[in-house]
Amino acid sequence: MTNNQGQTLKVIQIGNSILRQTAQPVENFADVGLQQLIDDLIDTAIASHGVGIAAPQVAQSYRVFIVSSHPNPRYPDAPQMPPTPMLNPEIVSHSETTIEGWEGCLSVPGKRGLVPRYKDIEVEYRDRDGILHRQVFTDFIARIIQHELDHLNGILFCDRALAFKDNLN
Ligand code: NI
Repeated sequence: MTNNQGQTLKVIQIGNSILRQTAQPVENFADVGLQQLIDDLIDTAIASHGVGIAAPQVAQSYRVFIVSSHPNPRYPDAPQMPPTPMLNPEIVSHSETTIEGWEGCLSVPGKRGLVPRYKDIEVEYRDRDGILHRQVFTDFIARIIQHELDHLNGILFCDRALAFKDNLN
């Protein structure tokens, strides 16, 4: 499907009850509104220096997120990858090993939390055309996916954090 012009959407903040809902699965992949939402999420992630963004963060309670890891002021060491929409994602297997790392969230401004995440995960997801993918991700990308998947289940990183620090970005 073609990439339409996206626009930057308002990101809702912790305290908004939409962030605590369980998001609905996508059923109609050809829906024009869904395709526009994906384009808008990509634009919003880039504009806000996010390495990922989930649909509930723009008040759309659907099982959709974008992984958009790239080095930026918020995460200088982030690996580069093209913005990747993941729809109806599920972790089908994971390593025993977890790693603690600092993460933030566009919906929780000014805070970082030290969160344990699985080092390696195998994910099943559909792309924006509805094609099923099964892929292994490690380290920082695996962390982003676990963080974004939490958003689809009403969980924020602060629920899992072992410690907090303030962060200006
Ligand atoms: Ni987040």
